Amino acid sequence: MIPLTGYTDRLSAAPGERIAFKISSALPGPYRASLARVVHADPNPAGPGVKMVDLASRFAIERPSRVQPLALGSYARVDAARALPTAGPLTVSALVWPTLVAAREQCVVSRWDESTGAGWALSLGPAGITARLGVPGGAPLVLATGLAPASRRWHRIWLVVDPAAAVLRVGQMRLGDRERREVSAPLTPGARPHPRAPVLLGARLAGEVREHWNGKIEDPLLLAVAAAAPESVVLDPLLPPAGLVAGWDFSRGIDGLDVVDIGPHRLGGRLVNLPTRAVTGARWTGREMCWRHAPREYAAIHFHEDDVHDAGWATDFDFTVPEDLPSGVYVMRLAAEGHVDELPFYVRPPRGRRSADVLFIASTYTYQAYANHARGSTDAAYRERVAAWGAAPHNPDDHPDYGRSTYNRHRDGSGICYSSRLRPMLTFRPRYLTFLDARGSGMRHFPADTHLLDWLEAQGIGYDVVTDEDVEVEGAALLARYPAVLTGSHPEYHTAGTLDAHAGYLAGGGHLAYLGGNGFYWRIATSGAVPGVIEVRRAEGGIRTWDAQVGEYHHALDGNYGGLWRRNGRPPQQLVGVGFSAQGPFEGSYYRRRPGADDPRAAWIMEGVKDEVVGDFGLSGGGAAGFELDRADAALGTPAGAIVLASSEGYGPAFVVVPEEMLSHISTVTGEAPARMLRADMTYVELPGGGAVFAVGSITFCGSLSHHRYDNNVSRILRNVLDRFRGSGA
Ligand SMILES: [Fe+2]
Repeated sequence: MIPLTGYTDRLSAAPGERIAFKISSALPGPYRASLARVVHADPNPAGPGVKMVDLASRFAIERPSRVQPLALGSYARVDAARALPTAGPLTVSALVWPTLVAAREQCVVSRWDESTGAGWALSLGPAGITARLGVPGGAPLVLATGLAPASRRWHRIWLVVDPAAAVLRVGQMRLGDRERREVSAPLTPGARPHPRAPVLLGARLAGEVREHWNGKIEDPLLLAVAAAAPESVVLDPLLPPAGLVAGWDFSRGIDGLDVVDIGPHRLGGRLVNLPTRAVTGARWTGREMCWRHAPREYAAIHFHEDDVHDAGWATDFDFTVPEDLPSGVYVMRLAAEGHVDELPFYVRPPRGRRSADVLFIASTYTYQAYANHARGSTDAAYRERVAAWGAAPHNPDDHPDYGRSTYNRHRDGSGICYSSRLRPMLTFRPRYLTFLDARGSGMRHFPADTHLLDWLEAQGIGYDVVTDEDVEVEGAALLARYPAVLTGSHPEYHTAGTLDAHAGYLAGGGHLAYLGGNGFYWRIATSGAVPGVIEVRRAEGGIRTWDAQVGEYHHALDGNYGGLWRRNGRPPQQLVGVGFSAQGPFEGSYYRRRPGADDPRAAWIMEGVKDEVVGDFGLSGGGAAGFELDRADAALGTPAGAIVLASSEGYGPAFVVVPEEMLSHISTVTGEAPARMLRADMTYVELPGGGAVFAVGSITFCGSLSHHRYDNNVSRILRNVLDRFRGSGA
């Protein structure tokens, strides 16, 4: 664990609203928390350097240290099961699809009371499917089948406590070929299988919750009989098996955190740490691809030992945003005994008003998707630079203990499709370096977007800030107050709500400067029932670090088809004129002026810029056009009349066309030659209702703004755009 860190209950607040800070400090003495405003969070000595405005005079507090643990691993907890009978025969059965066979003990279903040593557990252990029976005052009775289940295959497993025959049985049968094994042992005198304890699905409660299951579980059930043939017991909602005490049908409430018992006592439970729902179950036929159309084919939940949702830390202190605190990006700086951490948050303008004519939308959904992205790239050279520059010291490579990102996989190899912000997000920090950038700072996301904020401050342009979540909740009306709205370097992840807000703003005459690349790309889902979380299904195509399993392309949280917005009928070109075209290493090239620069409708953008080459400098990869590139393409929806002012060039063989454009190794969806598609198009689009979009088509653009004391052609172009947009009226 990091000695001093934390998170907030929300990412933005307006004046008068309160943010709760949840801190864990392993340091012996108290820590101090103080407010600061973030202007520039790039520690590269070749640039303007870190600029933070110390506001300790506005807020500072000292708090005693305490460690708040974060226990990873998902399971369902059924507290109502405490009331179940505490004597008699018992059959426990479940369908399982294991994903980490031969790892340590993993529990499927359990009812255990560590204080008395009573209880039972049905697990996968080193010797196969394992039954454990509590013997108070003695060692538990442990019985295993001796047969390892096959990875990623469905099995029915069971344990039977038969007091009449005085035996314990444990067994497994693989669905399909029906390979079966059952073993039995005499019941130890003194065995007490029935504690007053909750039932856990996917873990065992033994002091703490442990033995987390990796894989899918379906139809866990309890019978108050000793079933003779447990492999044929089926949880049929219409024809309950004899002696059913509880049976959890995971096909109910797939979009939430409740697990529903269809047995006589209705012993409903609650999911902890967000396992994955809307996954194919043992009954999945392939006839339906959406869980909403055939829920019983999706009656499984995929649990992981490294799942995380709400860390659940207690609040250490609150901060109420003062009425006169300007909208902007802030941090709460935690410091004690040489340890520092800075927790970012956003101060919005007062509700219902604007305090500037420019609005910056912080791409918090994207920051969240990347939160704790472990890249395996923290080598000696990276660490050396971090130390030399005083960059953010904590890299997710070193700290798996806060859960990882939607760019990583779970330990069992499955893709991580959820990201919660209710946990420390180590990548969401000032001074955080993503890459060891040979020609620049190597920053992305939160700190990279301060390149833009710093430029706005240097230009004397006032701005308000809101987050993606704010835009989702308040829609186009929030944006409509502003004559100019700016994105950051990488507004990649969007819900239908945030896309609608952008589209509505533009349709109503708004002016959007899309100052990044690979934006408006992935569709995500959110849900009021699962707070603080985004869900992404990496379906079908796109640049991906894992692929969603067949049949699992629909979100659990809202039931909608996931994946690229392009495959949902809303390619980015339709909205902002350009869309993802090519990707390469974190290197920046330059734009070359195109005839559109002299088009009378757009010539004002290039006013004062006579250069043929634009942006051949910068703090992100060394050039304004790099890393991830978007191009204009009428075939994908770029509006008629869009003007390409400049296009980038000069990429090496490491840059490739994005896979969704490729039909074969040489031909593309739109017919354009692949080599031609390695470009960013700086594009201007005028829209019918008086709205307009200026798009730069590159993720590294904002890194060039501060070059030569902010006096350069990239800076001039953006200044021209904002002056026109701001002057256009709200
Ligand atoms: Fe991205």
